[in-house]
Amino acid sequence: MNSNVTNTAEDLHTDLIEHHDRILILDFGSQVTQLIARRVRESGTYCEIWPFNNADITAIKSYAPKGIILSGGPCSVTDEGSPRAPEGIFDMGLPIFGICYGQQTMVEQLGGKVEAGHDREFGRAYVDVKEHNSLLDGVWDAGAHEQVWMSHGDRVTALPEGFKVVGASEGAPYAMIADDDRKFYAVQFHPEVVHTPHGAALLKNFTHNVCGCNGDWTMAAFRAEAIEKIRAQVGNKKVICGLSGGVDSSVTAVLLHEAIGDQLHCIYVDTGMMRAGESEQVVDLFRNHYNIPLIHEDASELFLGQLDGVSDPEEKRKTIGRLFIEVFEDCANNKIGGADFLAQGTLYPDVIESVSFTGGPSVTIKSHHNVGGLPERMNMQLVEPLRELFKDEVRELGVELGMHPDFVKRHPFPGPGLAIRLPGEITADKLEILRKADTIYLEEIRNAGLYDAIWQAFAVLLPVKTVGVMGDSRSYDYVCALRAVTSTDGMTADYYHFDHEFLSRVSTRIINEVRGINRVVYDITSKPPGTIEWE
Ligand code: XMP
Repeated sequence: MNSNVTNTAEDLHTDLIEHHDRILILDFGSQVTQLIARRVRESGTYCEIWPFNNADITAIKSYAPKGIILSGGPCSVTDEGSPRAPEGIFDMGLPIFGICYGQQTMVEQLGGKVEAGHDREFGRAYVDVKEHNSLLDGVWDAGAHEQVWMSHGDRVTALPEGFKVVGASEGAPYAMIADDDRKFYAVQFHPEVVHTPHGAALLKNFTHNVCGCNGDWTMAAFRAEAIEKIRAQVGNKKVICGLSGGVDSSVTAVLLHEAIGDQLHCIYVDTGMMRAGESEQVVDLFRNHYNIPLIHEDASELFLGQLDGVSDPEEKRKTIGRLFIEVFEDCANNKIGGADFLAQGTLYPDVIESVSFTGGPSVTIKSHHNVGGLPERMNMQLVEPLRELFKDEVRELGVELGMHPDFVKRHPFPGPGLAIRLPGEITADKLEILRKADTIYLEEIRNAGLYDAIWQAFAVLLPVKTVGVMGDSRSYDYVCALRAVTSTDGMTADYYHFDHEFLSRVSTRIINEVRGINRVVYDITSKPPGTIEWE
């Protein structure tokens, strides 16, 4: 996460998108606000999320949205000092869509009533649709009985003038309300989550039918504009990009190369903690396929040496982070001769997190390793061409740039690499054992056609030896744990439910083919309470 950069809401608004219809999402702190943005973008409309308390009317006017969505949030509008939408938005003549807390503050601010302490409704509920309107076009007809996802304790008890009830659920008589004249719509449920099966269609009706957005947000358009913007920012100066082999930094580099050609210099710091064949693939792809100047700095001995005897996970992470910055800086200064700009693959979720109402986590669970801290140290400006995009959009952009779909769909791989998949001390031998097991596991996942259904899968080598029997003799070797999770953003995750035959096949192959492992276990922990990586 790029937490060393602090943004204001206005920083989030770039001229990149001024040619596109756009929606503003005011965030009241819901866990699922990002999903609203993803649904809106998926339907071809650009949108941004601004924290409710960092969005004044002047900034909103200059952003010039075609409509505003008010998100859900954890507060109660009946509490003193609870969040409110900036007053002026209701007089801008713009369509507004309130969701959950957004509905309640809208009702309260426009003269209706909200009460706390009614029956709480969490999870699946059903709405009876009473009337048709443009929000429901082609989705729900009057008389329909439709599944939605509710999560509320308070509820609306009196409507503001001009509003009428469009749908009701058992616990929420005002589950859907509308003032068609002013184009104000509000729902008690969450249309952005998958458990509201037609929710995405409702959001699309809001952006397309009600707000009149034309659906022009495509990756082809983004690519052309991003290239113009990079050229304008960088001029004829040099840019350095740290490649990790991951999707974000790779797409950043390919986009930059298209924009500024040989002004781009890439550095790949090889920590020696990569998976089998990975370094060779990265170097080959960039040097030979894309013709992008790339320095391959093999620092594996340095990393292994400094990690010798280190077994505490935080110390491992910090050591790797520090060495990475030292090697990168040295390389940038001495092999490239420095540069004015540093390119980073910062994504929109990182940007939102840095300004969000609820703020980032107050406790450090894991100190993530990236090139943070370098820009100040080296006095470089940042180029962050992906800062408007979600991960799935980055993948789309990669394909748009001609990158192979298999490459852009690769599972995330953490900066500290295999070091955090080797609890305990790291040695060259253990790294080699882990690489072999990991390769077999991923090969079997690919063969079974499961790779794309899984967010991330990897092997972990435990610092535990157990007794086994191989042939006629006793073995005393390491335990290998397998992990595979499904997730949409890495923030929460569930373990992947493999069938037992698959697990048996992988286990047999690893034990037969990898000397040093005689037992395989499968991790069935979700996140939370577990994390995805083991360290
Ligand atoms: P955890 O283990 O925190 O992981 O549940 C969530 C996601 O983040 C990745 N991860 C990292 N990525 N540097 C990174 O670039 C790191 O230090 C790091 N630690 C975890 C992890 O692989 C998963 O996708």
